[in-house]
Parts: sequence; structure tokens; C-alpha cells
Amino acid sequence: MVRHGQFEMNEVVATANANVALAKYWGKRDQALNLPYTGSLSITLAGLTTTARVSFSGRLSADQITLNGQEAVAIEAQRFRAFLSLVRRTAQIDAKAEVAISGNFPVAAGLASSASTFAALALAASHAAGLSLSTRELSLLARRGSGSAARSIDGGYVEWLAGEAADGSDSFAVQVAPADHWPLGVVVAITDESRKRLGSREAMARAAKHSPFFPAWLQSHDADLDEIRQGIRDRDLTRVGQAAEHNCLKMHAVCMAARPSILYWTPATVAVIQRVIELRHAGIDVYFTIDAGPQLKLLCLPQQRGALAEEIGRVPGVRKVLLSAPGCGAQVVEAA
Ligand code: PMV
Repeated sequence: MVRHGQFEMNEVVATANANVALAKYWGKRDQALNLPYTGSLSITLAGLTTTARVSFSGRLSADQITLNGQEAVAIEAQRFRAFLSLVRRTAQIDAKAEVAISGNFPVAAGLASSASTFAALALAASHAAGLSLSTRELSLLARRGSGSAARSIDGGYVEWLAGEAADGSDSFAVQVAPADHWPLGVVVAITDESRKRLGSREAMARAAKHSPFFPAWLQSHDADLDEIRQGIRDRDLTRVGQAAEHNCLKMHAVCMAARPSILYWTPATVAVIQRVIELRHAGIDVYFTIDAGPQLKLLCLPQQRGALAEEIGRVPGVRKVLLSAPGCGAQVVEAA
């Protein structure tokens, strides 16, 4: 039974961190449900945080959504409304919501802002609607907003299981190890803060349909996933780093070989890749990975993070360097 009417529900504020995929999600077997062809594994990133503030009210005639203080428009607003409607259906309410989302890092530029956004929103909105969901249920819900958001519900090292069920009920994320299992250093190199031209949804669809390398990507992915999972368990940076770099370069090769081609890199992206390779030749254990944008995330030992950030900050075209590490999962920070 749907609960109608003039009721007011409490405002809930939740936070979630971005994540960086070491074994990437690239390709959907179901577009509507965000079901992946393969599993993926990421590190939840401390300090790259999105905050979602949500309240439902029977007095609102439409959902009101702001992003960093500005009203969400068009496709963006539509995506949030669809997500809020999913929460409403689950909670059996029909009240509209007031939603304010803010992030402390560049949005839509390949820094997984959709992951932290939908993870924070899944937690805040479900709570505000009176639901009390388990970690698994939250991951299933966040996945519907953005696939990679399924992994930002939990902290530390997180694997999203591809699952097999047509309804997606077995496609959720689980923690492989908590953040303190292995305190890695992560350096984020921002080379371009503008919004990316091609969103991951369209890019994945094009790559899956129009890249001759896509079958090879699928066929070779699980081996990378196994290696990275085991490397994390063994705290083996060389193993994890090599497999993550390989997986990243394969994903970008799939994109580049699509027709029309998808190229996320800028000259600065390549300059950082080359600097990382040089540093490795000089004996520093550092590895890169790149999501659907021009930014890079580098993995290193925690004690080398500061020096690495300085080195990378000097590479021409690098605009900003952020320091991160394995961080916590989504949290309710305020509930009135
Ligand atoms: O969650 P989406 O639809 O924005 O896709 C994210 C895709 C990558 O960031 C490139 C890879 C990943 O696993 O996060």
C-alpha cells in the first residue's frame, strides 16, 4: 500500500567516497538494470567525498535537485528523478524529494563522481524514505543509479560480483578487505577539470558493439580480477599494480579501437604515464590506472606518496594533485 499525503519525513545527510577500479567495469549485459558482463574490483578513496542531503515531503509537487548549489537540468535531473522513484516504489511512498548533492572534487571528469554520488544518494534517500537497508541491499540500489556506485557503499577493497540472474539480484558488491588491511598510497593527477564529452554509458555501449577487441576484453578479464584479488590479500603492490595497469590499458585499447573511436587521454595523460614508467625504472614501485576520462590514479607505498605527488605535480599539463588512500564506505552523518 502506498502511503499518500501531507506527511513530512526527516532530512537525512549521507556521505560516500569515490572509488578507483583496478579491474574495471566496462560493458553492460543489461542497460536498464546496469548489469555488467564481468566483475570489477576497486579501492574506495578517502577524501574524495560526495554529500547527499535528502528529505521527502508531501507538500512538494516535484523533486527538487541541486548539484553543488545549482539546479540539476535535463538528462541529469531525469536520472536522479528515476532513481528517487525507485526508492519511492521500494518504500511505498509517493512524496517528492528535496535533494542537495555536493562534492569536493571535479564532477564527471573520470573521477567516478557518479559512484560517490549514487552511493551517497542511495543511503540518504532510502533512510529518508524510512527504509533500513542492509549493505547488500544498498549496493543493489546504488548500482541502479550508476554501476560503479555499487562499489562505493563499502570501504577499503571492494569487488562487484557480476552475477547471473536476469533481475540483477546477485549483482552487488562485497568487501574483499577493509581499508586497514593494506594502507596503500593513492595519488590522483588531474589533467583537465572540464566535463567529459562522452559519458561512460554511451562509451560502454559503443565499445561493446563496435570494438573488435571487446570479445578479447571479456575473455581475458577474469584472470586480471583473480590476480588483483589475490594480490590485495597478499599485500603485493607489484602484482596488483602490474595487473591493474594491464587491465586499464586493455580497457582503453578497446575504446580506441571502437568505431567511432573513443579516446579519453590528453597529452598530459600520456606524459604522466611516461613519468610513472621512468620512476619505476628508477626503482620506485608506482603504477597508474585511468577511468573514463583524462585523469590518472597512481598506486604506491604510503611512505612514498608525498614525494610521488611532488614529482607528478611537476609533469607539464598536470593541474592538480590529490592525495588519497583506502577509505571508508557510505555513512549517514546526520538524521534529524
Ligand atoms: O558507473 P559508471 O557507469 O560511471 O561506469 C564507470 C566505468 C569506469 O569508471 C571506467 C570503470 C569502473 O569500474 O569504475
